[in-house]
Order: sequence, then C-alpha cells, then structure tokens
Amino acid sequence: MRILITEHPLISHKLTTLRDENTPSPTFRQLTEELVTLLAYEATRDIQTKEVKIKTPVTQTTGLRISDPTPVVIPILRAGLGMLEGMTKLLPTAEVGFLGMVRDEETLLASTYADRIPGNLSGRQVFLLDPMLATGGTLISAIELMLERGAKNVVAITLLSAPEGISAIEKAFAGKDVDITIVTGALDEKLNEKGYIVPGLGDAGDRLFGVV
Ligand code: URA
Repeated sequence: MRILITEHPLISHKLTTLRDENTPSPTFRQLTEELVTLLAYEATRDIQTKEVKIKTPVTQTTGLRISDPTPVVIPILRAGLGMLEGMTKLLPTAEVGFLGMVRDEETLLASTYADRIPGNLSGRQVFLLDPMLATGGTLISAIELMLERGAKNVVAITLLSAPEGISAIEKAFAGKDVDITIVTGALDEKLNEKGYIVPGLGDAGDRLFGVV
C-alpha cells in the first residue's frame, strides 16, 4: 500500500480555511472541489495510457491518451459527493459509480445502503472519494467491495487522514492481491473518543451539505 501525503502550499492554504469552523458551507464546498482537483493531479500519476498517432497543424506525432477501459470514479455518499465535481473536472471521461455508506456513531462500523457500481471492475482503475479517513472502517468495506467485483487497482482520495485509519487499512489488506494507494491532503494527529479526526474539520458531510 502506498500513502501519498501531498505537500503543497496551495493545498495547505486551502485546508486551513476548510478546517476553520467559521468557514461557511458554500466556501467549504468550493474549497473541497478545488482541493480534490489538486489531489487528483497526484492521484492520477499512474493512470494507464496508450500511444496514439495524431496530426498537429504542423506535422504528424505520437502522443498519450488515457487508455480503455475508462477509470471508474466512486464517491462514497454522502460526503464523497462533494468531491465528485473536482475529480471529474480532471477526468471527464471517467465512469461514475455511487456507493452509499453510513457509519454507526456508536459502534463506528460502516454499512452499505446504496450500490450503483459496475458489476465487473476487472482491469479498471478505481478512484474512491471520501473526504475523511478516520477509523478506516468505511474505506475498508468499500475496498473489499471493489475486490469482490474484480478490481486490483484502487486509489482512495481523502482530504484528511488519521494514522489509525491508515494502519487499519494496511492491516486489512496486508498480503492481498490488490494495489492500494491513499492520496491525502494531510495526515492529522489522531482520532478522538467519538472517532473524529483531530484537529480535523468536524463532520465533513454536515459542513458540505448542512445537518439533515
Ligand atoms: N467523518 C467526518 O466527517 N469527520 C471526522 O472527523 C471523521 C469522520
């Protein structure tokens, strides 16, 4: 498993505003989108490409294009939805699936309530979007589902991650035949007793979409 903590002053600057409790939802949404586009640049570094011949107005040349089958982008509902636009801006040809998962606030265990994901993911590059990698429970369940559908290459993009969540994912997939990469904006300090990331930014879903 690879962990990529993207270090860039623009990412740090935007994350600081995102963390600020006084940042209102419209700004939070806008910054999330911008951050995901920056993270997606790193996350797609190993995207599969093929050589193509093209003609410029001047001459014939060979270039690279993203190869088939197209990558699949899967936001984990609800908060991952706030990351979709930023991702598809960079990968407009990607197919989009949806995975609805909810975390029980008592047990911190994740369960699936919506599954609109291709039945066969073999040979596909999968990009999972979830802003907060906290206990790792949600991402572990999501990656397990990807493996069941035949995926062998999964990149998870998160805004913030906790060390506990990273360790849990490492442990869950150690020795398994899957290439997992976590691309994150920052590695925070720890989880608190309620499973929130510290210093974190609070509940990402609520801050994106309000409390419903
Ligand atoms: N989910 C969130 O939205 N925030 C956290 O800090 C942890 C999980």
